[in-house]
Amino acid sequence: MGYPFRDLQEFLKALERKRLLARVKEPLSVELEITEVTDRVCKMPGGGKALLFERPKGYSIPVATNVYGSYERMKMALNVDDPEEIGWKLYRILRPEVPQSFLDKLKKLPELKKLNDAIPKLVKKGKVQEVVEREPDLLSLPILKCWPKDGGRYITFGQVVTKDPETGVRNVGLYRLQVLGKDRLAVHWQIHKDGHRHYLKAKELKKKLEVAVVIGGEPPLPYVASAPLPPEVDEYLFAGLIMERPVELVKGVTIDLEYPANAEIVIEGEVDPEEPLVDEGPFGDHTGFYTPVEKYPSMKVKAIVMRKDPVYLATIVGKPPQEDKYLGWATERIFLPLVKFNLPEVVDYHLPAEGCFHNFCFVSIKKRYPGHAYKVASALLGMGLLSLTKHVVVFDEEVNVRDLGEVLWAWGNNVDPKRDVLILKGPIDVLDHATDEVGFGGKMVIDATRKWREEGYRRQWPEVIEMDPQVKKKVDELWEKLGIG
Ligand SMILES: Cc1cc2nc3c(=O)[nH]c(=O)nc-3n(C[C@H](O)[C@H](O)[C@H](O)COP(=O)(O)O)c2cc1C
Repeated sequence: MGYPFRDLQEFLKALERKRLLARVKEPLSVELEITEVTDRVCKMPGGGKALLFERPKGYSIPVATNVYGSYERMKMALNVDDPEEIGWKLYRILRPEVPQSFLDKLKKLPELKKLNDAIPKLVKKGKVQEVVEREPDLLSLPILKCWPKDGGRYITFGQVVTKDPETGVRNVGLYRLQVLGKDRLAVHWQIHKDGHRHYLKAKELKKKLEVAVVIGGEPPLPYVASAPLPPEVDEYLFAGLIMERPVELVKGVTIDLEYPANAEIVIEGEVDPEEPLVDEGPFGDHTGFYTPVEKYPSMKVKAIVMRKDPVYLATIVGKPPQEDKYLGWATERIFLPLVKFNLPEVVDYHLPAEGCFHNFCFVSIKKRYPGHAYKVASALLGMGLLSLTKHVVVFDEEVNVRDLGEVLWAWGNNVDPKRDVLILKGPIDVLDHATDEVGFGGKMVIDATRKWREEGYRRQWPEVIEMDPQVKKKVDELWEKLGIG
């Protein structure tokens, strides 16, 4: 079956049919009240339902939250049973396999066709431009103030589109935007992110940087904006690969950028790097703490375009677990094959949501030589946004790194902190408050693998207890009869 949803609203309808969405008719305030309800629902077992607040107090546009906040809904949005399938699809496209025969060439064709079918398609008209406001007023949108000490109202699920001012290569990043007035937004692209890189290039070239902030669109799009793709990979091509059909784009009304034709709302504007930076924050962040005020660029809004009947999509971040647990899970699974592409010895890895993703990376490897754990940890710490990881713990292949119980068992038993801990320095996520400086601090690599003689271990490493297979088989066969349940 082809990809089933054209836009956010079709996705919401499908969720409703499956009883995965709850409508809230009570007119709740966009200031704090929608957050409180969403936060309670996110913390329900399994992530709770998606929410549609039909009548936010004072606004005619409904607000949807927690749309991606469960494994089931995330898989529906990506149209897969297991997001790892998407990673393997990419792996097959990337693998530099030289075809040996004509038949081999033919085998490669379907993969290349998938890539060709995924190229974004420019269309003349899009629902997103049914209404064009050239005198924009951000305050007319139901943008949320999430937490009591937030510096104001924030767009939390905006896909920020920019183009490299030199090469024209597009980037789409999920960065929050703070409303500073009816036509001003502070743009929170952190120093390690591609949007910030485009901003620095525009500054160097003394150019203004055009920006589109997209709400909604085909259901993979909000996720794709959060995915740590390499800078040269177009997020819309990636979304096309997920859907096996192109994302439809329209040209901006006041800017020379294309954005999804099936989006709900798009805010068009530009960032002038000559203008002074502004105060951004405080903001109740996905670490569970408030990020203090810091300096960021601001965007002048030139137009707001939208459908006649848009839905405003928002997400809440705060103390985990929140909706981003499931976005992060999708990234972890999709990128595993790509990690293996570079590091075939990696069996699995896990960045728990409770560790806000960047605090811990547990990785299991097929250990083949002394020091192998340090080789893998060093490679991960040099790979894209994994470079921001604070603690990397390396395990042997049999440890299930997605099971915290097994992780603590192997970590606790196999590690001598005097020998197995390496402290390094490096770039740290700018949301981390423990480091002395923003964005720079310490890292810890822990080798929790079985130690070898060549690694200085002089004792006999003990054997893990395992039951005799014959006895296991007998008890398996007898189990029902034992009447234990
Ligand atoms: C809900 C949510 C909010 C986020 N907010 C920000 C943000 O405000 N600033 C930022 O730099 N990254 C933020 N991120 C992380 C980026 O979206 C992520 O690192 C992404 O890979 C950035 O895209 P880029 O690699 O194209 O820069 C957020 C992620 C999620 C899931």
